[in-house]
Amino acid sequence: MKEALDGFAIQLMEAKKLGRDIHLAGHFNRVVVCGMGGSGVPGDLLKAYASDMDVDVVKNYFIPRSVDKRTLMFLVSYSGNTEETLSCFRQGLRVGCQMVGISSGGKLQELCRQYRVPHVDVPKGYQPRIAYPLQLFPILNVLENLGLVSSAPDIDEAVDLVKNADFTGHARQLAALLVGKLPIIYSSERMFGVANRWRIAFLENCKIFAAVGVFPEIDHNELLAYANPRLPFHVMILHDEDDYRRIKDRMKLTKKLISRTAHVTEIRLSGKGRLAKIVSSIFLGDLISFYLAESMGVDPTDISLVEDFKKQLGSGYLSL
Ligand code: PA5
Repeated sequence: MKEALDGFAIQLMEAKKLGRDIHLAGHFNRVVVCGMGGSGVPGDLLKAYASDMDVDVVKNYFIPRSVDKRTLMFLVSYSGNTEETLSCFRQGLRVGCQMVGISSGGKLQELCRQYRVPHVDVPKGYQPRIAYPLQLFPILNVLENLGLVSSAPDIDEAVDLVKNADFTGHARQLAALLVGKLPIIYSSERMFGVANRWRIAFLENCKIFAAVGVFPEIDHNELLAYANPRLPFHVMILHDEDDYRRIKDRMKLTKKLISRTAHVTEIRLSGKGRLAKIVSSIFLGDLISFYLAESMGVDPTDISLVEDFKKQLGSGYLSL
């Protein structure tokens, strides 16, 4: 994990080249991104980045009934063997929508070859959640080639920010505050993908529960949980200066009210462009979870429970 974090800027530079060679013909009116766990993250982040685009994220066996020939569907699986994603692939074939597979091999790559579906070959050897730029950037490059986004300068800014900024001190400070606490991460609804990726980092790297919530919804229900002063929460509010002004008002007032019973830290997303904010803040979250895992004596790379689960469930789907 340490090597992956130390080499994160190098991964970003590698990621920015992926998918550039995929030039699709056709006009697409919506984008669907299918993927589970770490490989579901790129879909959430695409929604956060291209918030004015019609993007659906599928984390299940079934694609929406509304998928049709004008849908562009990305199938993302780091291993290439995740059965929910393979199920979506087969449904996409039946519907006849344009698909693009993204994996480091596996059955997904084989199926893409067999059915002549464009495929992005992602380098092996990463934990899927750390490898999200290797999955997200090719999606952006394919969309850029279609004229649907203009992400090339944003990718460059994200790479430069991670290359040049030092988040270590900030990350260590926050990790120390989180010892023995339940992390709760709040953001605007638009930045849900980022907040949720922070949650995944605490779950998988530290093996602790973590919760996520979004404004404005949390002010209508979750706020009430803070009436209970006994819960060992540490709340982190992710602020994006581009959040809608009433969301900012809500963040400020929520912080004031919940500070009576919970510890609250505000985190301002760094960078000018949205992609730089997304990538750099997730990097900060990964470092925090890494230092927290270290202080707890937990191996952040151990995902044996998920692996055992997959084994016990069996590979019935793969042989179909
Ligand atoms: O972080 C992980 O290892 C998991 O969340 C996986 O990403 C998830 O199980 C899906 O596997 P894959 O990424 O190989 O499709």
